[in-house]
Amino acid sequence: MTDALIGDLRAALGERGVLTSAEDRARFETGWRYGKGVARCIARPASTEEVAAVLRVAGRHGARIIAQGANTGLVAASTPDATGTMVVLSLERLNRTIDLDVHGRTVLVDGGVLLSQLNEALQPHRFWFPVDLGADPQIGGMVATNTGGTRLLKYGDVRHNLLGVEVVLGDGRVVSLLNTLRKNNTGLDAKHLFVGTTGVFGVVTRAVLAVAPLPRQRASALVGCADGAAALELLRTLEAGLGDVLSAFEVMSRNALGPVFAHQPALRRPWPELPPYSVLVEAATTLDAADLDLAALLEKFLGAHLGQADDRVTDVLMARGDEFWQMRHHISESLRGAGRMLAFDVSVPRSRLPAFTDAVAALLPAVHPAVRLCDYGHWGDGGTHLNLVWEEAAVADAAALVRELQARIYDLAVRDFAGSYSAEHGVGPHNQAFYDRYTDPQVKALCAVLGAFCDPDGRLGTVRLGERPGR
Ligand code: LAC
Ligand code: ZN
Repeated sequence: MTDALIGDLRAALGERGVLTSAEDRARFETGWRYGKGVARCIARPASTEEVAAVLRVAGRHGARIIAQGANTGLVAASTPDATGTMVVLSLERLNRTIDLDVHGRTVLVDGGVLLSQLNEALQPHRFWFPVDLGADPQIGGMVATNTGGTRLLKYGDVRHNLLGVEVVLGDGRVVSLLNTLRKNNTGLDAKHLFVGTTGVFGVVTRAVLAVAPLPRQRASALVGCADGAAALELLRTLEAGLGDVLSAFEVMSRNALGPVFAHQPALRRPWPELPPYSVLVEAATTLDAADLDLAALLEKFLGAHLGQADDRVTDVLMARGDEFWQMRHHISESLRGAGRMLAFDVSVPRSRLPAFTDAVAALLPAVHPAVRLCDYGHWGDGGTHLNLVWEEAAVADAAALVRELQARIYDLAVRDFAGSYSAEHGVGPHNQAFYDRYTDPQVKALCAVLGAFCDPDGRLGTVRLGERPGR
């Protein structure tokens, strides 16, 4: 059977621009953590005009579209649904422009440029884009997700570092908001409609980013803490004393860190016995080592804290190389290998992290004794990843367990601890039900109005931010 939509896409994009075989489609159909669907085809436009053409062709054929960057998202928002009718619009060929203004300290990039590709291009000019994470996403996907990451404490999320965007709306209209100004206080800053809204209001084809001076030095250490309160006290002391250079504060529980060493035998255990919490502290500065010995400063500071703290701070190890960061970045995949995993990316007010974590630990045994809490995360930002792991064979009805855990833990975070059910991974089919449950009805109504304007036929994405026509 010939598919007229595919024929029209080929006419618009050329042969290379459309993939149809099951083998070629496979990598676009399965998400990194959640999300598995079937695509009608993959459209790979190489310019903004071609993205607009894809949307016009989709409009003619009544097809729905899922925009996809590097497909590294963690809430299933970049993969098609199971119907086999959606077109994946991949930005991977829209990746040529990286246009740096060294005096403005801004860069114009195509949406399909990878974060690693951008940073390689910036490095010779001693800049970087400081929204930093373990994966290697595309910039357009980072905007649509409003990615956070491990250095949000110092640099903020994508929203804080974004000056402008160009987007293609659901019916192919192009909106150019490629602002390069840091000061531009002229009414609605419409670019924010496209940040963290998972591509349902438009496909991000270009972005203007503020870039940061590349640090000349980084120093990191691992601090053993007997409990969450000790970690929180360490954070307060560090911010008060080293706030200008503090760039990361990542907390790893014993249950989260333990599996890393089985999974990555090349990594050495920092201590024979892991403490309840290991805190990765990082400082960074653009100052030269000749002017400031950052490692010595951090070591002295942490040594003094260890001396003054009671025995709830158990030890300080200064890093040699990046092995502590490697541990940190391997947690997620090590836990995936430890059994069935259910991930929670939640946040609460920072001061309540220990009490919140205790409350989660207290509720688990009653739900199911096989579930292990492996928590780690960006405590400096109030974020914690509560990854729950269990042995497949120990649970008869996994779907029912997932439903109960999600309902109870998200309610605990949002209702009892004034937190968020999605701290940094954004909204996707994985957590749509909780968007529906916790989002103010007036915000949903506003999103419906915006959706009707930006994507009149409800063509974009698998997420519903507001009730839309035809959905
Ligand atoms: C991390 C990802 C899962 O922090 O957000 O490792
Ligand atoms: Zn994270």
